[in-house]
Amino acid sequence: MRVLLIAPPGAGKGTQGALIAAHFDVPHIGTGDLLRDHVTRGTDLGRVVRQHLERGELVPDDIVLAMVREAMVAAKAAGGGYVLDGLPRNMAQARSAYLIGLELEMTANVALHLQADDSVLVRRLLARAALEHRSDDTEEVIRRRLAVYHEVTHPIVDWYAERGILVSVDAVRPVEQVGREILVALEVMRPLIDHVPEQNRRPIDLTSLGIAFGANPTNSDISG
Ligand code: AP5
Repeated sequence: MRVLLIAPPGAGKGTQGALIAAHFDVPHIGTGDLLRDHVTRGTDLGRVVRQHLERGELVPDDIVLAMVREAMVAAKAAGGGYVLDGLPRNMAQARSAYLIGLELEMTANVALHLQADDSVLVRRLLARAALEHRSDDTEEVIRRRLAVYHEVTHPIVDWYAERGILVSVDAVRPVEQVGREILVALEVMRPLIDHVPEQNRRPIDLTSLGIAFGANPTNSDISG
């Protein structure tokens, strides 16, 4: 299984990415985690990217793409599956990731889009800030990260819909419920992936399922 996660800050890329990776026994490649690790270790790359992270701005494409290419080569050696969490963030990265996938014969099977409103995301990230002290979890930088997401990342969702590999999920529900819905959707898709060409598939929108089954969209993330 090869999954890309596209979602705003705080929607649960890291949380659900770890679950999907464990379920399918594939590597979880988190671009933010890889970049923060460089900053913590004080590498040359860490010194270059630190200010981008602290300001909530995107790191230059060539840096993240080189990092992801290396991680995908390692994923190929480990069996060929992956969960890519945090890339692509703009159209240029989406096209480059696709070309890397073609070259390594491991293009994504699914682009998983986690949806949540900004107000929920700000609340979640400020709650995390109190516990984890990530340098980009101040309200000002959270709002900048959200603005970057809306401006340059969210538009790429349509590209994955056109490719027929988009699955959209409502991420404003308890972690376990979101995770269960994602795993069920991916398991249902698993046999199709090898037998139905991408161009013959359709985007899957599960975002109204929670409401259909009685969830209250206004207060479902209060604990988050
Ligand atoms: P990155 O580390 O990817 O940060 P982000 O996109 O801002 O996302 P977060 O890690 O904050 O949130 P998440 O969606 O992973 O949610 P999580 O599961 O952690 O990137 C950081 C920076 O690196 C970027 O700003 C940029 O500078 C740079 N960068 C990274 N990739 C790049 C790229 N490709 N190109 C250029 N630059 C790049 O959950 C968040 C919190 O919510 C947690 O406390 C969690 O417990 C909680 N939570 C999760 N799900 C739920 C739920 N359903 N209900 C309640 N709480 C929940």
